[in-house]
Amino acid sequence: MDPDDCCKNGDSADANGQPAKRQRPTPTTITAAEIAEEFSHHDPSVARINNGSFGSCPKSVLAAQLEWQHRFLRQPDDFYFNQLQPGLLRSRSFVKELINAADVDEVSLVDNATTAAAIVLQHVSWAFAEGIFCRGDAVVMLHYAYGAVKKSIHAYVARAGGHVIEVHLPFPVSSVQEIVREFRKALELGKANGRRVRLAVIDHVTSMPSVVIPVKVLTSICREEGVDQVFVDAAHAIGNVEIDVQDIGADFYTSNLHKWFFSPPSVAFLYTKKCSASSGLHHPVVSHEYGNGLPLESGWIGTRDYSSQLVVPSVMNFVNRFEGGIEGIRRRNHEKVVEMGNILAEAWGTHLGSPPDMCCSMAMVGLPGSLGISSEKDALELRSLLRDEFRVEVPIYYQRPKDGEVVEDGNSAVTGYVRISHQVYNVKDDYLRLRDAVHKLVHDGFNCTMLQSK
Ligand SMILES: Cc1ncc(COP(=O)(O)O)c(C=O)c1O
Repeated sequence: MDPDDCCKNGDSADANGQPAKRQRPTPTTITAAEIAEEFSHHDPSVARINNGSFGSCPKSVLAAQLEWQHRFLRQPDDFYFNQLQPGLLRSRSFVKELINAADVDEVSLVDNATTAAAIVLQHVSWAFAEGIFCRGDAVVMLHYAYGAVKKSIHAYVARAGGHVIEVHLPFPVSSVQEIVREFRKALELGKANGRRVRLAVIDHVTSMPSVVIPVKVLTSICREEGVDQVFVDAAHAIGNVEIDVQDIGADFYTSNLHKWFFSPPSVAFLYTKKCSASSGLHHPVVSHEYGNGLPLESGWIGTRDYSSQLVVPSVMNFVNRFEGGIEGIRRRNHEKVVEMGNILAEAWGTHLGSPPDMCCSMAMVGLPGSLGISSEKDALELRSLLRDEFRVEVPIYYQRPKDGEVVEDGNSAVTGYVRISHQVYNVKDDYLRLRDAVHKLVHDGFNCTMLQSK
């Protein structure tokens, strides 16, 4: 069986624009029962409102993945020589359309956003090593850049002689202008003493706290200010926010497909704009295709399981069972997460961490100050408590209080925010479970100092 047939529903086209084989005469919208069945491998005892961390993969896509794995094991040589590359090209073609890249050769499939960052940063590191960039040239990144990516910047760029500058972003944030102002300040700092800013690393959606960043505006500021290259870390983007890479205008753009695009772990795309600067990019794992361009290099990095990269057409079949496809899913998730966030904030007497238009399918919601979250360790331990005692899975962000901010309207200031996600499998009860768990803790006089004494 063609793995893509596992969930054929009749309304998809293949990478060549050919209509997919029809299993049903007319496309029908997926029902609530069918959604529940697609995610019936989820632990039913857990209110899982953390799609953001590890994503989710429906059964039909997992079945298609298993078919690909069987294809490989059935006749490995034929698979490697005849099926793998056309399959990867097909997946890349779908991604190209979804992100509006100009050419499929601008799209490579890699394991994850961490790998994509290593590819870009290794390239920058060589520019320092080969004297194209000078010692002391600057690289700008957001203070809220993902921890692993920050480490990668230090490992590849700072070590090679780059001067790393962090953009200090406000949180809670009330407008895009606040971000633009801080970004401009950081660029000025980067350019001080005649330095060149060689690279800006900009998140499309920051992880913790989660905020949608105006990447298009920041990229165009980079162009005005003479920044050499822009890399957008959009690990959370595909299936979550609109992506038009030509409109955004960055040199490099990566997103995981396993977070918000229903792919099995792990697969990400790395877009590299066709220009001389990007032509020297290489996969850090060097294999037979070295020198033949990043998409081919990435498509053969030794013997391994490529099935997660091959199921993109099956993911398309899955999302096209929903009204409006992935766009419809994205829009409804956003509306729902804002609605649920407002219910929680109202119940707890707190607020959202950003205006709704700076939320995606995730929202930050202030926790009652009386919980006494006073460190990242508290936040982590409270998260474990919610998991272990209330069966709620949600990440918690610790926000250091600003100077003098101890009391707010007679209540303790908000020092912790939950990051709630909404995905197609979520129901209102998941959020009410969280609301009630927090209410119980507050009612019982719980304070994080009690966790430390445990
Ligand atoms: C902004 C951001 N960048 C990079 C990553 C790394 O993704 P992965 O672990 O799939 O490589 C994440 C993961 O959550 C992220 O949120």
